[in-house]
Amino acid sequence: MLGEGTSASVKDHVTPGAFRTVMGQFCSGVTVVTAMGPEAPVGFTCQAFASLSLDPPRIVLGVSRSSTSWPVIRSGAEFCVNVLAQHQRALSDQFARSGGDKFRGVGWSGSPAGSPRLAGASAWIDCRPHAEYDGGDHLVVIGEVCRVETPAEPRPPLLYHRGRYARIADCP
Ligand SMILES: Cc1cc2nc3c(=O)[nH]c(=O)nc-3n(C[C@H](O)[C@H](O)[C@H](O)COP(=O)(O)O)c2cc1C
Repeated sequence: MLGEGTSASVKDHVTPGAFRTVMGQFCSGVTVVTAMGPEAPVGFTCQAFASLSLDPPRIVLGVSRSSTSWPVIRSGAEFCVNVLAQHQRALSDQFARSGGDKFRGVGWSGSPAGSPRLAGASAWIDCRPHAEYDGGDHLVVIGEVCRVETPAEPRPPLLYHRGRYARIADCP
């Protein structure tokens, strides 16, 4: 039942491995969430991203409690959700590591608030941190959308499915 925690039978039957395999059937896009930290830009690859509310415009992210970038991002005024295009697999891998200079060799420009907008992405969604909830080993993060932008020519998206990158064959 909602709000009563995880029952023993759920823990017994839905192992993390089985859950990961089943959830891998659900195809998603890939984003990199970025912000300008006090010393340097920060960012991490994030697949758990969705539109949440149209009015007011809000998005939701699932952020691992082990993320080292998120505490920096959440303490700032704004962050940017960069929706990756299909040619950006290497960029996704580069931002899926903890530590080091993830922005080395990466082209980007600052949003009006200074959040890095990664060059070549298929959309940029500037957000303010709005709310954060316990989601288990991940946080449920809600962002208030304050600005959106897309490139003049639409770019096909990078997909993630069954633990692998993929592309849409019939995407314009
Ligand atoms: C395709 C892909 C999708 C990912 N999706 C998420 C996600 O939705 N949430 C998350 O917290 N981490 C996700 N990660 C893992 C983080 O990018 C990774 O843990 C990263 O090291 C975190 O960096 P940080 O410690 O600088 O925050 C994903 C990684 C990959 C490769």
